[in-house]
Amino acid sequence: MTKQTEDRPRRVLLTGAAGRIGCVLREGLRGHYEVLRSTDIAGLEPAASGEEVMQADLTDPDDMRRVMDGIDAVIHLGGIPDEDSYQQIRAVNMDGTANVLEAARLSGVRRMAFASSIHAVGFAPRERINMDVPVRPDTFYGVSKVFGEALGRMYVDRYGLEFVAVRICSFLPEPREARNLATWLSPRDAVQLFRRAIDAPGVTYLTVPGISNNTRRWMNPDGWDALGYAPEDNAEDYAAEIENVKGNPESNTERFQGGMFTEPEYLGLADKAG
Ligand SMILES: NC(=O)c1ccc[n+]([C@@H]2O[C@H](COP(=O)([O-])OP(=O)(O)OC[C@H]3O[C@@H](n4cnc5c(N)ncnc54)[C@H](O)[C@@H]3O)[C@@H](O)[C@H]2O)c1
Repeated sequence: MTKQTEDRPRRVLLTGAAGRIGCVLREGLRGHYEVLRSTDIAGLEPAASGEEVMQADLTDPDDMRRVMDGIDAVIHLGGIPDEDSYQQIRAVNMDGTANVLEAARLSGVRRMAFASSIHAVGFAPRERINMDVPVRPDTFYGVSKVFGEALGRMYVDRYGLEFVAVRICSFLPEPREARNLATWLSPRDAVQLFRRAIDAPGVTYLTVPGISNNTRRWMNPDGWDALGYAPEDNAEDYAAEIENVKGNPESNTERFQGGMFTEPEYLGLADKAG
């Protein structure tokens, strides 16, 4: 047995397991671990062999203690994946992530992979950046991802947790607009990236771009070697179909990495009329 195999977590918790990324990871990670425990506030498909399913609310600390029992590593995807009111973002994305981290500490979890976002740096211009560029969140949503990364760092330094923040850009079955030539994360690369984020030995704290091997990417592949992540897909394969699908080059949407989230009028889920 190799060292890496010995170090791999055996019991893994997946939050947000009923969501778009969660469903893909649940499918892709099935069988990789002794137990994959899927949790969400929404109803989940029944567990297959080697799986457990638990309904739980991120905003309830007791629920998070319950789902964390006996867990070695967490993939934390649960939350609001868009802009919303500050109150909603705070309750689910900030307080929820705090509940997950605290429950993980109390249960002796070793590693957490966190679904961060390009929107933590949404106001970065569309040029190559490293992962240590100063944060420039574009929304309350982006701020919640900065918060999650910072809270993770605190749990690393203060309590010895291991933490990998994956700044997911655009998780889609296929790229669909010019921006995705830089930002696409394919489903199979997402599975590989999150699996390596919890399996890779010798990682204390890392922030990595969550994208495929896109020729036109705006993020340098910081941390990919440390994880052993070798993406298999490249949005360039779709360039001919989508490179003209873009808006006004003078707009915030086209100038900054966060796209439409950087427009002052973009309210996401808080836009009840829209
Ligand atoms: N999809 C993308 O391109 C993308 C990009 C960047 C970051 N992310 C992040 O990845 C994660 C997953 O995104 P997604 O696209 O699958 O979103 P999604 O909305 O499909 O999934 C999120 C899941 O979280 C669950 N959830 C919401 N509130 C909850 C609560 N109070 N308690 C428990 N569960 C709750 C939802 O029921 C849902 O199943 C999110 O954290 C999102 O911010 C996604």
